[in-house]
Amino acid sequence: MVWKNAIKTKKLKPGKTKMVTLGIKTLMIGQFEDEYFATEGLCRHMRWPLAWGGKIKDGCIRCPLHQTTHHIDDGSLVEWSPFPLLPAYGKILGKLSKPKDLKVYQTRVEGDYIQVQLDQS
Ligand code: FES
Repeated sequence: MVWKNAIKTKKLKPGKTKMVTLGIKTLMIGQFEDEYFATEGLCRHMRWPLAWGGKIKDGCIRCPLHQTTHHIDDGSLVEWSPFPLLPAYGKILGKLSKPKDLKVYQTRVEGDYIQVQLDQS
């Protein structure tokens, strides 16, 4: 396990998220209730970049495309492709891939940076 600099703390505003690329991984870094968090950056449903319009509410990240929702503390799945505008369509789209949890990463602040713990060297 190694800690990698992900983004400078001053570049991340409270309640906002950013996409970050570390090696071959794309991550979403964010701040929720004074805590930083990091998850894999692409929605588990159809790989939409979650920081591009994803909403954080009640401790969850909701993808803007079909509203798949995961807890940001442990990545557990809350709702898979409900797509409230057209639920029948969302159900069909939901079957295009298996429901999955979102990978989450440990974070810490070191100097000016938010660091993320990765399982690669
Ligand atoms: S791509 Fe995110 S919910 Fe479909």
